[in-house]
Amino acid sequence: MELYLDTANVAEVERLARIYPLAGVTTNPSIVAASKEPLWELLPRLQKAVGENGTLFAQTMSRDAAGMVAEAKRLNNAVPGIIVKIPVTAEGLAAIKLLKREGIPTLGTAVYSAAQGLLAALAGAKYVAPYVNRVDAQGGNGIQMVQELQTLLELHAPQSKVLAASFKTPRQALDCLLAGCEAITLPLDVAQQMLGTPAVESAIEKFEQDWKNAFGNLNL
Ligand code: E4P
Repeated sequence: MELYLDTANVAEVERLARIYPLAGVTTNPSIVAASKEPLWELLPRLQKAVGENGTLFAQTMSRDAAGMVAEAKRLNNAVPGIIVKIPVTAEGLAAIKLLKREGIPTLGTAVYSAAQGLLAALAGAKYVAPYVNRVDAQGGNGIQMVQELQTLLELHAPQSKVLAASFKTPRQALDCLLAGCEAITLPLDVAQQMLGTPAVESAIEKFEQDWKNAFGNLNL
């Protein structure tokens, strides 16, 4: 499976790339805007932070297919190997089809239903990103959407992968992986929650205390 961080925080990517088995970094326009750094300067820094084998994702801003294709080409020229995120609108679907013909890999984003995600995959998107928590926040069932999308892709578009996105808890991410998703992208807080339960630290402190009581030091 592929684990991505959903962030534009270069320092945190650098720190966590040492620790986590990362496949790369995903961004979206809000994430880039929060960094206040121009995209074209940010992307090379993110690439360096995640390592040359890490895959970057960046999103187009145009609303029409021709504009999306032009931006995708610019991204592809600037960062070889980048996956271009295209919102799955009517124009977005047209752009995904055109980019597939051009050999530029895409991710269909802003996916709020299994049907929408299936269309992106059939149009040729390499990845499809359903928004789990945003669907939950609307009173829907994000995990159920992902389960359906995963099954639909396995049956009808096996060349595309679900890259599940929009998480607020590790539980949501695990449920997507249990549904068979091959990729997830986590915001920094959820990535850290996966490792940082307070019980772990107190278990280690107890081991140290017991050892010190018996041997007077912490040496092996
Ligand atoms: C991924 O494609 C999305 O940009 C992202 O995961 C959305 O996450 P959010 O709902 O936490 O903003």
